Amino acid sequence: MPRIINICGARPNFMKIAPLMRAYRGHPNIVPLIVHTGQHYDANMSEVFFRQLGIPEPDLNLEVGSGSHAQQTAQIMSRFEPVVQQHRPDWVLVVGDVNSTIACALVATKLGVRVAHVEAGLRSFDRGMPEEINRLLTDAISDLLLVSEPSGLENLRREGVAAERVHFVGNVMIDTLRFSLEHARRTRVLDALGLAPRGYNVLTLHRPSNVDDPLVFGRLLDALERISADLQVVFPIHPRTRANLARLGLQPRLDALRGLRLVEPLGYLEFLRLMADAAVVLTDSGGIQEETTILGVWCLTLRENTERPVTLTSGTNTLVGTDPQRIVAAYERCRKTPLGEPRVPEKWDGRAAERIAELLAKM
Ligand code: UD1
Repeated sequence: MPRIINICGARPNFMKIAPLMRAYRGHPNIVPLIVHTGQHYDANMSEVFFRQLGIPEPDLNLEVGSGSHAQQTAQIMSRFEPVVQQHRPDWVLVVGDVNSTIACALVATKLGVRVAHVEAGLRSFDRGMPEEINRLLTDAISDLLLVSEPSGLENLRREGVAAERVHFVGNVMIDTLRFSLEHARRTRVLDALGLAPRGYNVLTLHRPSNVDDPLVFGRLLDALERISADLQVVFPIHPRTRANLARLGLQPRLDALRGLRLVEPLGYLEFLRLMADAAVVLTDSGGIQEETTILGVWCLTLRENTERPVTLTSGTNTLVGTDPQRIVAAYERCRKTPLGEPRVPEKWDGRAAERIAELLAKM
């Protein structure tokens, strides 16, 4: 009877937890609990995903909210420790690379509870990214490393992780995409925004390296000025990016871009529809590089590196950094090149969560 506490906290966690909760139902011996750390708390950053993806209500919400990295991580740890002591689970399962992931993994392992890490082994090799630190540390203390793409296997092997702890299960985020795509196509978001399929680009931007430095953010706006003159750019804006626009005095520049349309963060289904019918997606997100690969939509990643290299070798993704000339040149290439049939990375077949549940049920 494995009792599993499943952790979610921030927006990119919810679509990874959803298929796991469904897969556990096929294993009546698994007793799952959901703990929401409260890292993301706005309705459009959290609650909408539970509703749209049919995730059961969290059994517990730690309500930590925002703070510096140390404060947020420490708050999650001190609030999660008594939960583990009370429930004595067999496993704590964490997903991805956010502060909630490392905080809960660290608490569990010190209390002698085994940790399963979904999306293990990804490496950007950029220790300036908070997520890279979270990935390295979480993998170092996890008992079961559940890998989404071949590079993860290679990275863990090179780091000397024992092979029996590592399992290549595929990509749970893609489970959710495949499960939801038809539903997403029925949303009215294009009508609501007055958009025609392939008649717009989509932008997301929230990495500290892109939106905390006025010079870098300004360079991205230079590129967007050119791109939005070609085809309008729909920009569902993350709360930290919105806050920075005001703080860095960039709001007037953004307002001047006629072709750039700021919208509030969208629900999962609406955003999936928006991506599926976009001409080009520009992003600094990790998950969106994977989703566009499966959708077969061009993705330009506004970073110098990616922890998801399979999206470059078997997908539609290109790294373009933050130099306006390079971004615009890559954009123009995408606009001229017809989209082919999407190539599907190994085990991105919609069954990753089933494989994980099967493994956990046996352990
Ligand atoms: C976090 C993750 C990042 C992930 C991103 C997706 C870490 C280190 N980073 O970054 O990997 O890609 O989530 O969104 O865990 N805020 C709100 N409402 C909310 C949540 C946040 O207004 O519901 C604002 C607050 O001003 C907060 C800021 O956003 O200070 C940043 O939130 P935080 O969770 O610290 O990091 P993200 O940038 O969202």
